[in-house]
Amino acid sequence: SSHLGDDLTTVLVTEKQIQDKLAELAARIDDDYAGKDVLLVGVLKGAVMVMADLSRHLRSHVEIDWMAVSSYGAGTKSSGVVQIRKDLDSDLSGRHVLIVEDIIDSGLTLSWLIDNFRSRGVASLEVCALLRKPEAAKVEIDCKYVGFDIPNDFVVGYGLDYAERYRNLRDVAVLAPHVYS
Ligand code: PRP
Ligand code: MN
Ligand code: MG
Repeated sequence: SSHLGDDLTTVLVTEKQIQDKLAELAARIDDDYAGKDVLLVGVLKGAVMVMADLSRHLRSHVEIDWMAVSSYGAGTKSSGVVQIRKDLDSDLSGRHVLIVEDIIDSGLTLSWLIDNFRSRGVASLEVCALLRKPEAAKVEIDCKYVGFDIPNDFVVGYGLDYAERYRNLRDVAVLAPHVYS
């Protein structure tokens, strides 16, 4: 449909809830990294909104870089095969790296990314994810900064897509099954 709201069932996390949570996580990150230079690495494309808002809640200097990986393609299930579409510009050796993600679903993307970054000699590596689906986990991810644990529904909005659409929704909402079934 031409109005993206018509394709949604329930709003799971509102814009206000997202912003309040990101402010809270940013305050923790400011404290935890006091005196350290942090490199935020956003995972394109889903993490753009989280990166934009989380980074603007921070009070400390940070650098921002991007890595583009994809494992979902146009479907609703992870293929498990992670492809690098764009690598980082930065050298990670000796850096305090904080990966910024929109969602941990199966965990396969982050599991792969964490191994990949560790092999580049980071000084420290942590993960911040706005959303996590505990029931969908295929691998456990040690995520220090989690926004919300959510049920195992296919969610879109605030960066999360279905077939590249719905990323521009301000809230996180459940996609109506009629859209993909
Ligand atoms: C989505 C999402 C996470 C990943 C989570 O990205 O943005 O990066 O899947 O799923 P997982 O825990 O099961 O691996 P996607 O591969 O759809 O690419 P995109 O960010 O460009 O939408
Ligand atoms: Mn993604
Ligand atoms: Mg996607």
